[in-house]
Amino acid sequence: MATASAPTAGIPVGPGLSMFDPIFVGIDEFGQPVYITLAYRNLLAGGEPGGGKSGLLNTIAAHAALSADSRLVLLDGKLVELGQWEDCADAFIGPDITAALDVLRRLQQVMNNRYAWLRAHGRRKVTALDGLSVITVLVDEIAFYSATIGGKQEQEEFVALLRDLVARGRAAGIPVVAATQRPSFDIIPTSLRDLFGYRAAFRCTTPNSSNIVLGHGWAEQGYSATDIAPTNQGAAYLIAEGGIPRRIKVAYLTDAQIAGIADYAAWTRRPTRPSAPTGSRLDWGTAA
Ligand SMILES: Nc1ncnc2c1ncn2[C@@H]1O[C@H](COP(=O)(O)OP(=O)(O)OP(=O)(O)O)[C@@H](O)[C@H]1O
Ligand SMILES: [Mg+2]
Repeated sequence: MATASAPTAGIPVGPGLSMFDPIFVGIDEFGQPVYITLAYRNLLAGGEPGGGKSGLLNTIAAHAALSADSRLVLLDGKLVELGQWEDCADAFIGPDITAALDVLRRLQQVMNNRYAWLRAHGRRKVTALDGLSVITVLVDEIAFYSATIGGKQEQEEFVALLRDLVARGRAAGIPVVAATQRPSFDIIPTSLRDLFGYRAAFRCTTPNSSNIVLGHGWAEQGYSATDIAPTNQGAAYLIAEGGIPRRIKVAYLTDAQIAGIADYAAWTRRPTRPSAPTGSRLDWGTAA
C-alpha cells in the first residue's frame, strides 16, 4: 500500500463551485431547497425597506465569490450591503455616479468584445468550458443611481447602460442581479422588468408594486407580495421566466458568516506568488 505523502505547498485550494451551477437561495413553503441558475439569467429583487432584498443579494454574492469561474462587480450606494465582499470583487462602487458609469461602460465594452469573440467562433453564448469568467454584477438599489445621485443626464446614462447589460449580458456571461425598494414604473419600466428572467418580490405595500416586480396580473391571481407579513423578513415570491410565482424564504447569512466566507473567498482569489521560497509563509503554490 502506498504511503500518503505529506501535502506539498503547490496544491491549490479548490473552491468547488461554479457560476454555471445551480445557486442555493433558500427553501420553499414545503421546506424544499430552491435553486436558481444565474449564468444566463438576470435577477430583480424588489420590495419595501427591510424586506430582505440585500439578504438575497448577499447569498448570491457568496456563491459567486466562492465560484472559481466568477468575478464580481458590486454597486452599492449604501456601502454596507455588499461592502464585506469588496476584497473578492474586481470593482466595488459606492455612492459615486461617475465611478458607476465608468464601470458600466467598461462592462459594456467587455460584453461587446465577448460577442465579437463568440461570433468569430461561430457561437451564440459562452459556456462553462470556455474558460471565460462569469462577471456577476450586483446593484444594490437601482434607484439610488438612476434617480437619486448625479444629474439627470448621468442618471439617464446609468439606466441606458444597465438596460443594455441586462438585455445583452446574459449570453456573454455577464448576469445582473439588482435590487430596488421602489418598485414603481418610473424606476422599473415594464420593458426593463421583463428582461430579468428571475424576479423576487419581497413584502410590498400595494398589489400594484408586487405586480411591477412579478409581472402584470399575478396579484389578481393570488400571488401578491402584500400577503407577506412585515415580520417575515426574507420571505418572497420568486418567479422564473415562464413559471408561476413560488413562495420562498431566502437563506440568510449573518455578518459573521459573510465575513468568514468573504475572507476565505478572497484567499482563494489571491494573486499567486511563484517566486516565494518553497515552504515559506508566502509560498502559496503555483496554481493558475
Ligand atoms: N432571509 C432572512 N431570514 C431572516 N431574517 C432576514 C432575512 N433577510 C433579511 N432578514 C432580516 O431583515 C433585515 C433587513 O433585511 P435586508 O437588509 O436584506 O432588507 P432590504 O430589503 O435590503 O432593505 P432595504 O431596502 O432597506 O435595503 C436584516 O437585517 C435581517 O435582520
Ligand atoms: Mg438593502
